[in-house]
Amino acid sequence: MAYNLGVPPGWRKATRNLPALSPPVIVTDTFTPPQRLPVWSSLEQHAARLRATRVRTLFDTDAGRFQRLSRSVCGLTVDFSKQRLDAAALADLLELASAAGLQDGIAGLFGAAQMNFTEGRAALHMALRGSCPAPGGEDVTRYFREARSFARALREGGIKGATGKSINHVINLGIGGSDLGPRMVFEALAHTHRPVKVDFVANIDPRDLDEALAGVDPERTLFIVSSKSFGTAETLSNATAARAWLASTLPARVADNALAVHFAAVSNATASAAAFGIPPERVFPLPEWVGGRYSVWSAIGLPLLIAFGEAGFDAFLAGGRDLDQHFLKAPLADNLPVLMGLVGLWNTDFLGLETLAVLPYAHGLRNFAMWLQQLEMESNGKRTLRNGEASAVQTSPVVWGGVGTVGQHAFHQLFYQGTRTIPMDFIVPVGDDDPRQRGLVDNAFAQAAALMNGRDLATATAALAAKGMTPDEVERLAPHLVCPGNQPSTTILLPQLDAYHLGALLALYEHKVFVQGWIWGINSFDQYGVELGKEMARALAQGGSAECDASTAGLMAAAAAIRASNRAR
Ligand code: F6P
Repeated sequence: MAYNLGVPPGWRKATRNLPALSPPVIVTDTFTPPQRLPVWSSLEQHAARLRATRVRTLFDTDAGRFQRLSRSVCGLTVDFSKQRLDAAALADLLELASAAGLQDGIAGLFGAAQMNFTEGRAALHMALRGSCPAPGGEDVTRYFREARSFARALREGGIKGATGKSINHVINLGIGGSDLGPRMVFEALAHTHRPVKVDFVANIDPRDLDEALAGVDPERTLFIVSSKSFGTAETLSNATAARAWLASTLPARVADNALAVHFAAVSNATASAAAFGIPPERVFPLPEWVGGRYSVWSAIGLPLLIAFGEAGFDAFLAGGRDLDQHFLKAPLADNLPVLMGLVGLWNTDFLGLETLAVLPYAHGLRNFAMWLQQLEMESNGKRTLRNGEASAVQTSPVVWGGVGTVGQHAFHQLFYQGTRTIPMDFIVPVGDDDPRQRGLVDNAFAQAAALMNGRDLATATAALAAKGMTPDEVERLAPHLVCPGNQPSTTILLPQLDAYHLGALLALYEHKVFVQGWIWGINSFDQYGVELGKEMARALAQGGSAECDASTAGLMAAAAAIRASNRAR
C-alpha cells in the first residue's frame, strides 16, 4: 500500500544527494493500524507454529541458518539466528513492513516530513551527522561552530577560571537526553586519552552533586548546564546548588565574577540562561528539530567534544552517518534497523513477550541499558495512533538489562530457570587477544548458546549419575538442574568499542525504534506522558496537596511528620 506523504517527485533521490528539500511534508496519511493489514493474521499463524518449535530444531534442519539470519554493516555483525523465527515468518514480517509503507516512512524521516506530528516538527537528528539536509536547507554547522571552538580552547588550556587557572574538570548538569547519551558515550570511550576530567550529575537528590564535588578544585572546574529548555527542575536545582558551591568555595575576591567563567550552557533558552547568569557567548544552541533523546549528536555532546576532541566526535558522527546511509538505501530484507525492528515487533506482538533485556559485554557500556530505556520507552511507550485510535496491540517492550559478565552472577538465573521467555540483545565488542577480553567475549557467546540450548532431564540425570550419586539422589535432584532453554536472543558484534562503531550502534537502535513506531503508527518523537509527571511534581512542590488523591495526600502528610521528627533529633 502506498502512503501519500505529499513528498515532491524525485525527493527520494534528492535526499540521498543532500540538496535542500522543498517544504517539509506532514504525515497525515490514510493510516491503517497494523493488525488490520491482511498479513497480520498470517503472522499470527506463524507464531502459533513457532511457539511450539525449539530454535535448536530450526538449526538442525537448516545448515545455513546463521548465514541466512545474520548481516554485517558498518563493521557491526548482527546475528538474529537465535530468535524464534523462520524464513516464512520473516518473509511475512517484511511484507508487514512494506504494507505499512515503511519505505515511504524512512524516506519521509530523512526528507524532513513532520514525523513529530503532534508538535508539528521534523525529527532530523540525522542531519547533524550529515546524512540529510536540515529543514529549509539550514546550515547545521552553525550549531556546532561555537561549541567546537569552545571545546578546542578548553582542551588547550585556554579557558580560565575566575582566578586565572585553566579549567581541567567539567561537570555536566542535565537529565534525560541531556545526560544519558553523553554520559553513556563518555563512559564507553573513557579508555582513550583525555586531557580534561568529565563528570555527569543528573539527579535532584543532593547526594549526586555532593559526591561529584567532593575533593574538587573550584578554581579549575566548569559546569555545563545541559538543558534544551533550560526549564527542567532537576537540572536547574543542581545548577543553582553548583552556583552556591562556587560562591562559597572560590576566593571571596573573585566570587562575584565566577558565574560568567565557571559556567556554560547548551540550550535554546538563551534568555533563561542569561537570567541565571550565563552570558550568551557561553550558551550553545541545538536545533528545535532534534529531540532530547536524540541530542547526543548535537551540542549536547559538548562534554564529548571536550573529552575526546573533534576527531573523536567526528568519528562518532561518521559511524552514525554510515548507518543512516545503510538504513536509507538497503532493501528491507537486508536492512539492519528494519530487521531488528521487525524481530522486536515479532517478539512483542506475536510471541507476546513483554520485555527486552539488553546485555552489553563491556564495562564501558554499563549504562547502555539506561540510555536505551529512554530511547525505546520514551519514544514508543505510547498508545495513541496517527489516526487518533488507541493501539490494539502492544507497543514498546519493557527494556531493562545490565552489564555482562556481572549479570551472569545475578539475574541470569531467571533466564535459565524462570517461568518467562525473555528476549535478549547481547552486545559484544570483540577487541583484542588479551585473555581477559577473550574470556569476556567467550562468556557472552556461552550465555547465548546455553540459554538457547538449555539442559534437558536426560542430560541432567546423566551428569548427576556420572558424579556417582545414588539413583534416588539423581531422581530427586535432576529436575532442579533442568534449564528449558529456547530463550531468544540477538547478538551484535562490534570490532571494538571505538567512536565510529559506537556511533553506528546508537544509530542502529535509533532507527530500529523508528521502524517499530512507524509500523505501530505512534509518534516516536513526543513525550506527553513524561510531561504529566512533571506537572504533578510542580503542583506538589507548590503545596498543591489539596487536589491530590487520598494516597498521595496521606504520603505527603507522613513525610512532613517524618521531617519534623528528624528535625527534633
Ligand atoms: O522529561 C523528559 C525530557 O523532556 C526528555 O525528553 C529530555 O531529554 C529531558 O526531559 C531533558 O530536557 P531538557 O534538555 O529540556 O532539560
